[in-house]
Amino acid sequence: MKKTQMIIHLIALSGIIGLSHGAIQRPDYDDTPTPEFLNPSWMASIPDERPLSHVTMPGTHNTMALYGGVYAECQTWSLASQLRAGVRFLDIRVRHVKGNLTIHHGVSYQRAHFGQVLEGVAVFLQDFPSETVLMRVKEEFSETGDIYGAVVDFIHRYAHWNLLWHSRLVPTMGEARGKLIILQDFSGPDLGMRYASLDIADDWKVPTLSNVEEKWKSVYDHLEAAPTGNMAQIFLTYSSGAGVFAHPRAVALCVNPMLYDYLEAKTDLNQRLGIICMDFPAAPIIQMIIDFQLKSRF
Ligand SMILES: *[C@@H]1O[C@H](CO)[C@@H](O)[C@H](O)[C@H]1NC(C)=O
Repeated sequence: MKKTQMIIHLIALSGIIGLSHGAIQRPDYDDTPTPEFLNPSWMASIPDERPLSHVTMPGTHNTMALYGGVYAECQTWSLASQLRAGVRFLDIRVRHVKGNLTIHHGVSYQRAHFGQVLEGVAVFLQDFPSETVLMRVKEEFSETGDIYGAVVDFIHRYAHWNLLWHSRLVPTMGEARGKLIILQDFSGPDLGMRYASLDIADDWKVPTLSNVEEKWKSVYDHLEAAPTGNMAQIFLTYSSGAGVFAHPRAVALCVNPMLYDYLEAKTDLNQRLGIICMDFPAAPIIQMIIDFQLKSRF
């Protein structure tokens, strides 16, 4: 058996047993508690007139999923650390119980409520007003189909109405600075942009680690399409995935290095890749994504 195959089998086995490894810090993957370095205001150098759909940025899948064992955990950095490391797209899953919005990944309660997420974003944008934060909000582990009212209530209580970008349209960088852009993945009146208006590749089902190649193909195809895709539309590519025999850590340990090698091989950074949303990203791969920005035409 080849060495790489053996490693994959070992990872798969630990996935079945449900061992939590922890404390690996590589350029592509980091499950230690804090980023190797920070880049909190990288958006300051992006021209004001640039539409946000032209900006390439790092994101995290299941941003708040820090607890609950290997099948639930997708990140190890706090929200504040993720934002300061350069992450600008957040994936927030709320459980709706009698007007309260708690943070869940499936059955796993993530020891936080939506108000703490809003406060975290508000504090970050106050400290770094050149930045913007995009936030997918989706109901999880409850099926009320009616979270709009509670979300609005939480915004009034834990943030303020003007923190939000109040339009379905893609803002320019100048319009977006200091704002939280809700990517609304729930029904109700417009609260921000509609999540479904993005061009999304989220093939998250990776039943076993032998399906990692198919997962990578989905990521690769969408990243290849992004530079020449509709520039008025935000592109969003998830490198994350999971399944019964492949927990998020194991998938990230395989896919993150593929993503890293793919990005590193590109010599032309003057192209739009859109949002790249990851599990357990490391500071160097975050920086690599940030380095892809369109050059100004002067
Ligand atoms: C909402 O849920 C969280 C987490 O269980 C709890 O700390 C908080 O007190 C609840 N808020 C309300 C208004 O019930």
